[in-house]
Amino acid sequence: MINRAEYAKRRKKLMQQIGPTGIVILPSASETIRSGDTVYSFRQQSDFYYLTGFDEPEAVMVLAPKRKAGEYILFNRLRDRDREIWDGSRAGQAGACKDFLADQAFPIQQLQSMLPELLTDRQSVHYPIGMQKSFDDILLQAINKIRSMIRSGMQSPIACMDVSPSIHEMRLFKSTAEIAALQRAVDITVQAHMRAMKACKPGVMEYQLEAELLYEFYRQGSRYPAYSSIVGGGKNSCILHYIRNDQKLKNGEVVLIDAGAEYQNYAADITRTFPVNGRFSREQRAIYEIVLAAQLAAIRTIKPGALWTAAQDAIAQVITEGLVALGILKGNVNNLIKKQAYFPFYMHRSGHWLGLDVHDVGRYKIKNKWRTLQPNMVLTIEPGIYISADMQGVHRRWHHIGVRIEDDILVTSKGCRVLSDKLPREIADIEAVMSK
Ligand code: GLY
Ligand code: MN
Ligand code: MN
Repeated sequence: MINRAEYAKRRKKLMQQIGPTGIVILPSASETIRSGDTVYSFRQQSDFYYLTGFDEPEAVMVLAPKRKAGEYILFNRLRDRDREIWDGSRAGQAGACKDFLADQAFPIQQLQSMLPELLTDRQSVHYPIGMQKSFDDILLQAINKIRSMIRSGMQSPIACMDVSPSIHEMRLFKSTAEIAALQRAVDITVQAHMRAMKACKPGVMEYQLEAELLYEFYRQGSRYPAYSSIVGGGKNSCILHYIRNDQKLKNGEVVLIDAGAEYQNYAADITRTFPVNGRFSREQRAIYEIVLAAQLAAIRTIKPGALWTAAQDAIAQVITEGLVALGILKGNVNNLIKKQAYFPFYMHRSGHWLGLDVHDVGRYKIKNKWRTLQPNMVLTIEPGIYISADMQGVHRRWHHIGVRIEDDILVTSKGCRVLSDKLPREIADIEAVMSK
């Protein structure tokens, strides 16, 4: 869905940012051995993917502005008939140029010998400093090599700079094609949540609902979840990143599902909470309504120019008011907010950027001030209330109710669009889905 021209445009933009005397060097992700000769599914490093669309390990992208022989150089694996019989085809150097628009491509084995020449007379090297120790070493060795050749007139770079923030600022603003990919990941996820909701009844295991989610992901061409799915019933609904998913779902309890598909490397991230037996109890309903009201209030803040923290402020307000109304918190609402009295019940923040990574990149503060929202940013809004049994002074009828509601939101020029709006979150709508 993201075409070659768009990748090329991103590379151009990054080169413009670093200027004609800089050079960008970015390694791909590596394959990780699981055991013996089996490996984990390969997932490309997101910055590398964002700039190349190239989905193989053992690759390094070099962007050298104004270089006569070509600005975009890809070092990648050689074609290898034996390996390709076992592991599948490789682009090779011809494919790197033809299909991925590299100006030049070389076997990855030549990286170390070619780096000194590429770095010579460049003033600044832009790379992800400290992300891969072995890569830091390779670069520094190349720089030392040039230093040792100073008598032949070679000049080594005088600055190493972290390239990540520049790429991350670009990634924060999504293009039309990226928004389409995100929407697809979200649509698949919506259907997966629907499927799990419908399959839920007392006695079902948490992992059986997870299986429903994964079935729908895979069936629709999402090859992996964007993160380990969270399916927590009863007390497990109060564990924020619960992924064991191995307990039985019981009558009278809620189940919290936080799951998102990854589609063409773009992530969805959606949470719904519903009663295992399909009908909210009085207590579950009371807590759920507060979280829903908090989420709707937070979503109303999302528009260009709004502070990143406006959503969190709205959530803190509604949750505190709600807990006071139920008698779970006692005191003056404003004082309680100031003291963050809601924190034992709502201990995370309003959400995060969403994109190629589930907790996507991009700064939240600029010059030490919270940033404002702009069109084409995508973020989650995910308030929650979690009441575990060890919560001092809270009546036991509230125990083991953990509720989070999470949706994926695009900032538009006028306000926002909830990409995951099709997934029911009103109590009546959830009960209707579950009664079918
Ligand atoms: N699924 C992780 C999160 O909601 O941030
Ligand atoms: Mn999230
Ligand atoms: Mn989530």
